[in-house]
Amino acid sequence: MTVTIVGSQLGDEGKGALVDLWGGDADVVARYQGGDNAGHTVVEGGDEYKLSLVPSGAVRDKVGVLGNGCVVNPKTLFSEIDELRERGLDPDVRVARRAHVIMPYHRVLDGIEEEAKSDSDLDAGTTGRGIGPTYEDKAGRRGIRVGDLLDPDVLRDRLEYVVPQKRALAEDVFGIDAGEAFDVDAVFEEYREIGERLKTESMTVNAGEFLGSFLDDGDDVLFEGAQGTSIDIDHGIYPYVTSSNPTAGGAATGTGIGPTVVGRGEVVGIVKAYLSRVGTGPLPTELTGDDEDLADEIREKGGEFGTVTGRPRRIGWLDVPMLRHASRTNGFTGIAVNHVDVLAGLDEVKVGHSYDLDGEELFTMPATTERWGRCEPNLREFEPWGEVDWTAVAADGYDAIPENARAYLDYISTEVDAPIYAVGVGPDREETIELANPFDE
Ligand code: IMP
Repeated sequence: MTVTIVGSQLGDEGKGALVDLWGGDADVVARYQGGDNAGHTVVEGGDEYKLSLVPSGAVRDKVGVLGNGCVVNPKTLFSEIDELRERGLDPDVRVARRAHVIMPYHRVLDGIEEEAKSDSDLDAGTTGRGIGPTYEDKAGRRGIRVGDLLDPDVLRDRLEYVVPQKRALAEDVFGIDAGEAFDVDAVFEEYREIGERLKTESMTVNAGEFLGSFLDDGDDVLFEGAQGTSIDIDHGIYPYVTSSNPTAGGAATGTGIGPTVVGRGEVVGIVKAYLSRVGTGPLPTELTGDDEDLADEIREKGGEFGTVTGRPRRIGWLDVPMLRHASRTNGFTGIAVNHVDVLAGLDEVKVGHSYDLDGEELFTMPATTERWGRCEPNLREFEPWGEVDWTAVAADGYDAIPENARAYLDYISTEVDAPIYAVGVGPDREETIELANPFDE
């Protein structure tokens, strides 16, 4: 069977902890979208692994797959694999031949396009990893795919078509001095060698066929979504979004496994107990002004600084219309709520239960970001819960969670109409309380 893990909010919901927990029961862990914009931290026994491309499961002896829906920066891939090897691990990572490659010119263009957009406040605050420009080329049918790196003649042909266009864009439109990143010969040499390594290490696969053969044998596959529903290119707060589909439908299109198979499995939404956001755009429940101290407290306690960029994240109360939207879009069969410990000890705990917009009460997100930005949250207050020994709570199980926090969790579960499968009360693997294992459901 399959279990799909999806971010319910704006990314950074702590998906890695659940992928890590349930990935242990899977035979394969596959990513289906995004690239090295996705920071995930896996912690065990005090050891911390910060990854941005390699699927978290690969840290634990699982086969890790980067599906065709991913955009792959092979340099990041190799450096993460090399680092894991240096730390004594032996990750088995396979890359879809249909996945698109982030080329050096994509990263350069990401930076300059963001700068150009900032004059009109349209910059998304991207991670600068070249994600958007790579997906643009994919849709524009001028991308370089992983399979192309394996055949120098094909690679050369593709580069000779696309690189001069990119050079002209950089020089003539953006007026920058295009360097080696826009030089056909330099790029060809470097990427031909990358293709050699991918070949030598037998890393490339036909993802659908590869994953399908595991499923045919009765093995379990975990699909690891990156980013979150509200930064999905279709269902998110466009244009402040990433360029892929983190939502559960992406698990099918981004791997080559059919939607009926994905749908027969479980789809688990990962929810952070409050809201955090890297990047720009509106945020109706954001803690600003008089609430800035509260935001600072949550930011510090929750370690809310970007894994990839190190940027301090914006903080807000839980946005419940956002969660209702996520539940419908993904079809959650269950949820996991993280960072419940971070809210402990606060003087007040609130959620945005609904929005007011133009005299109307809304229970889900409007489809345009302009309207979302004008939404006033209707805040609902919860009884706060105090600090406790969360390691002990985790060891004792769900009933040991403070009563007020449990009331908060029950409320979330009711609003998204899905049962709680797990609660995160700390960053360590042992600090996730499991109520149900989706592979057993
Ligand atoms: P990009 O994915 O680098 O193109 O960035 C587009 C938007 O998605 C920006 O607002 C980023 O901050 C946001 N974003 C991308 N990846 C992540 C992530 O892993 N967590 C949270 N936000 C992300």
